[in-house]
Amino acid sequence: MDGSVYSGAAGFVANYKAFCEPLLFNELHGRIAGLELLERGNDAAAFSLGGFEGVAEQIEREDFVFLQHIHPFMFRVEVGGEASDFPRFLNMLQAVSVHADKGDVLVCQCRIVAQRMFAYSNGELTNLLASSLEKEGYTVSAQEADTVVSLTVFDRFAYMGISKAEDNVSRRAGGILFYSQPEDMVCRAEWKIEEAFEVFGMKAGEGMRALDLGAAPGGWTHYLSKRGIGVDAVDPAALDEAAAGWPNVRHFRMTAQEFARSHREGTYDLIVNDMKMDTNQSMDILCEMSGLLKKDGECLMTLKLPKQGVQKRINVARKVLGNRFGIVRIRQLYYNRSEVTVYLKNKV
Ligand SMILES: C[S@@+](CC[C@H](N)C(=O)[O-])C[C@H]1O[C@@H](n2cnc3c(N)ncnc32)[C@H](O)[C@@H]1O
Repeated sequence: MDGSVYSGAAGFVANYKAFCEPLLFNELHGRIAGLELLERGNDAAAFSLGGFEGVAEQIEREDFVFLQHIHPFMFRVEVGGEASDFPRFLNMLQAVSVHADKGDVLVCQCRIVAQRMFAYSNGELTNLLASSLEKEGYTVSAQEADTVVSLTVFDRFAYMGISKAEDNVSRRAGGILFYSQPEDMVCRAEWKIEEAFEVFGMKAGEGMRALDLGAAPGGWTHYLSKRGIGVDAVDPAALDEAAAGWPNVRHFRMTAQEFARSHREGTYDLIVNDMKMDTNQSMDILCEMSGLLKKDGECLMTLKLPKQGVQKRINVARKVLGNRFGIVRIRQLYYNRSEVTVYLKNKV
């Protein structure tokens, strides 16, 4: 290794859930011409490509389902996995930081995705880059950053780039979230709905009304009611007291089909559906219930993924739901396991 910085190696690093790698690769190759796989690591891959701006726009337009995070790289350098790599990273940083303005607020996001052990950690790399930037007079603040310096270290090469935080799909390094666990949390499904609200830019407010299909044990109902939303929670199973105890929650202890037969009136700002059932049936029920949605109403639903034919399932969902709703966005969220989350907005 000669330790030099390789410029002109433009491309991007993508992060995803390991079991969805073939699905994401299909999405990327199907939509971005001239893509070449350079290296794969744990839940991440580096691709070479001409420029990042076009890709950022395309991601915005195309709604990739399985992409959790992306960052561009302008430089790459060989790595040995020892602290002797540090001067090379600092060389790259110098070349990358000329693309930042002194008024920008920066954050450094460093991840090692190599499949072998390295002598340094993500945290050490982040401190190394951040303190170097601060010495150069840049403002570094994870909370207020609008610009991200990203470094991803694979087995053979490390890739560094700089981008606007909103172009990276997720503002978190590698798309990895660490939501705090409130004491009264009912179940981890609360993180799922919290993430969906963040990713799809949804608003919750006092006076709104929501219908929660498949509500038990009550994580989503709890999340919504805590934010002042009146919730009609539908599930034959019992609700946890932390959810059922809110005055703005009504529990209809019945199936969604029974509820649909007996409730043909009413309007909701939001219908959420996390029912554990066949996805076609679940979509049919949601479409039927969507008559209860306000004109500008929104829906969220989880789509359980089959062991095989995942892409087909997603295509069918896009088509069926696209016939009924104005906007259909499908994303695999960080807190989704073997499912994806669908965001729907009523036709206006
Ligand atoms: C994954 S759990 C939902 C978790 C919930 N979102 C939460 O945050 O606690 C799935 C729920 O779907 C409910 N379910 C299954 N079939 C249903 C139906 N036909 N109507 C209503 N609920 C149903 C089950 O009883 C189960 O409680």
